[in-house]
Order: sequence, then C-alpha cells, then structure tokens
Amino acid sequence: MIYPQFPLDFYFGTATSAYQIEGAWDEEGKGPSIWDTFAHTPGKIHAGETGDIACNTYHDYQTDIDIMAKLGLNAYRFSVAWTRVLPQGKGAINQKGLDYYNRLVDALLDKGITPFLTLFHWDMPQALQDKFGGFARRETAGYFADYAELVVKSLGDRVKHWITLNEPWEHAALGYLLGEHAPGKRNPWTYLKVAHHQLLGHGLAVQRIKSQYPDAQVGITLSLMPIFPETSSEKDREAAIIGDQFMNSFFLDAVFKGKYPEPLWSRTKFFHPKVLPGDMETISHPFDFLGVNYYSRAFFHHAWYVPFLKIWSAANLSAEKEFVKDGVQYTSMGWEVYPRGMYDVLMLIKNEYDNPLIYITENGAAYTDIVENSHVHDPLRQKYLEQHTAEVAKAIRDGANVKGYFIWTLIDNFEWATGFSKRFGLVYVDYATQERIIKDSGYWVRELIKSQEN
Ligand code: FCB
Repeated sequence: MIYPQFPLDFYFGTATSAYQIEGAWDEEGKGPSIWDTFAHTPGKIHAGETGDIACNTYHDYQTDIDIMAKLGLNAYRFSVAWTRVLPQGKGAINQKGLDYYNRLVDALLDKGITPFLTLFHWDMPQALQDKFGGFARRETAGYFADYAELVVKSLGDRVKHWITLNEPWEHAALGYLLGEHAPGKRNPWTYLKVAHHQLLGHGLAVQRIKSQYPDAQVGITLSLMPIFPETSSEKDREAAIIGDQFMNSFFLDAVFKGKYPEPLWSRTKFFHPKVLPGDMETISHPFDFLGVNYYSRAFFHHAWYVPFLKIWSAANLSAEKEFVKDGVQYTSMGWEVYPRGMYDVLMLIKNEYDNPLIYITENGAAYTDIVENSHVHDPLRQKYLEQHTAEVAKAIRDGANVKGYFIWTLIDNFEWATGFSKRFGLVYVDYATQERIIKDSGYWVRELIKSQEN
C-alpha cells in the first residue's frame, strides 16, 4: 500500500474531549457542567445514556497513553473540564482537578507525546449557566479568560499548544438554536450573543496565555464545512452563500479579519449582541494557528420562514447506521463522505486568510464495527482515513501550511446526543468492562506513521 507522505515535523495525533471520555463526573471536587445537567435530563440523550462513567479515563489514562505510544502517535489533543479545576466556573480552585491534568500531561510527555490542550469543549460550568446563561452574557468571556490563565499557570511550562475553543458554531447553534446539545435552548435571540461572546473569550484568552508564556502556540478550532445549494435555483444559491457565512466565515472573518461577513451580519441585525468598541480587535488579536475540524459538506436550501438564515438539509440525521445512496457513502451519523471537501477547505483558508499555520484538529468517521474473536474490523473507517489523508497531503503539496493531523477519535466515546451508539474510535471500547481493542484502522494509522520514516 502507498501511504501519503507528510513533512518531517508533522504531528500525527488523536483527539478527545473531557466530557466524552473522563467519567468521574462528580468526583474529587468537580462541579457540575451543563453537559452533566443535560445528560441527566430524561429524553435528551440516546437511550438515556450519560457521561457519568464514559471511558473512565479520569481513573485510568495510562492504558490509553500506552496505546497511543504503541501506534506511534506523537501528539494528543484533549480538553480540560472547566469545572474540574473551577467547580463554580470562577472563584475557588479545585487543586485535585489541576493535579489530574498535571499527571496526564507528564504521562504524555514521558512517552514523547506532545499535548494539545483545548480549554473549552462545550462543558460550560452549570454555575455560570445559571448566573449568566453561559456565553449568552459577556461576563462569561471574562471568566473564561481567568480560567485560561489559571490552567496556563499550572501547565504552561510543559504544554506549548493551546486551543481556546472547540467549534463555537456547534456550541452556539446546537446548544442555543436547535436545542440538541446542552444547554438545550431554542432561542434565536441568544444564538449570536453566544457566538460573539465565545469569540470574545477566545481573544481575551489568547492574550492571557501569551502574557504568561510568550512561547505558547495558541489557536482556535473551527468546524469547517463546504456549503452547496440544494438545487441550482437562484434562491438556493443565495441560501448557500448565507449558509456558508453562518457556519464558516462568521468565525473565520472574525478571528482573521476582525469583522463579521456581509450580507449575513446586516440581515440579522435584530438579533445582534452588543459589540462594544474594541471587541473586534480583541477577537482578531494575532494568534498562532487555526485548528480545523473537517467531517463532511452540507447543503442549504431557501426557506421562507427564516429568510436570513435558511435551513440546512438534515435529511439523513436520523440514520441508524451507515448507508450508500446514489453511489455515495454516508457514515452512521448520516454524514456524507466527501474527501474533496478537506482539500477545498484547506485551500480556501490558504487563499483567503493569508496561509496561516493549520492543524487539522479533528477528522474521522462513525461506522458500525465488526467485532470478531477479539479483533475489530472497520474497513470503511480505514477507507475514510485513506481518502482524507490523501487530500491533506495534496493540499500541503499545493501550498497549504498544515503541520498536524488529529483523528477523531482515539477511543470510542460518548458522542453527545447520540450517546454511546456512534463509535468514532481507532480503538474499540467495551463499555461493560472498559476493555480496549485496537481496530484495523488503528493498525492502519500505525503503518501510515511508520511509512513516514522510510
Ligand atoms: C465534533 C466534536 C467532537 C465530536 C465529533 C464527532 O463536532 O468537536 O466532540 O463529537 O464532532
């Protein structure tokens, strides 16, 4: 097999997030987050599942770090649970929480694995939700920056790669507009506030991290999706332009150019947050890299009832398992496999935003695994990774400044509203026993990495 080749100093990693793997939701002083509350609310999560125990990594991270080392991975992206270190989101510190992340970082470094630390992967402290509505109010941006400073003071001597936010679009849209994620709101009036205040929190955190450790590399992770019109009608094409601004350039333009895109911004003026003088400068404070999460593309069509936003076509979201339609493969999330989009997204960033340093902070797929005598076969996941890594390599050849590729995800884990029903891991988890089995795709990744040394 021919493996794509990457630059010498390339990071090959996997990504996870605290709520999806740690468990120990109320242990050793951790405060509740909105995901604890949401998952404990009947009817919100597939089969009533929760992240209470998840993959138990709070109690045992070493097993998984040993697996990373075995696969030859040289980087790991994880997130800190805000309420593990600040149970109320601000104020009193929980030293045991900080100790945990210190041990985790040391264990990674011990195996030569570079930590990439995400500060906010959606688990807003419940106390800040109750008091301010989470990022619906700007105070939370300030508390987020304080939290960032606390974590960087504790880990910044060893952690050199920092990601402020994970996918602010998803947190704002799924959490406050569609209600499918915590905190489960459906309120068009808060959506833009949450988006703006997250970005403000990002800009403030960049400055605070840099002021502690000027050599820290700081970035933000955005989910980027090429957007297409559902038909070639003019109205659908217009919907696709607005849809692209809504999901992609709202965040890209804000952090790189210090502005929100038109016509989206003017068309949504009744919903605007207060943008104070200086906000856009804070949001676009220079930072070191863009984290790109890429999974699939989306189609938009015109809808009269939300004339400024339109609705993205969610036809396949109720998929039970992977399927093929019109010759196109869909994953068990109902997401179209569209490898070309990876290349397009990387080239768009290169061309439109001055060729910034990029780490692909998530890419991967959920499929039904075939478990057979302690072996796990997942040919479709391997194929997905083969196709997407090829596109990444091509974009690099064409000038995109990509320096790392993180697969979502290391181990099967709690996939938000779909609970444990969707498996994205390179490593299979038997949730009854917490046993791990490396899937065929995991061994493929090991070979990909090995091939780089030749
Ligand atoms: C991304 C999230 C990540 C995981 C993958 C499948 O949107 O950042 O936590 O759920 O999707």
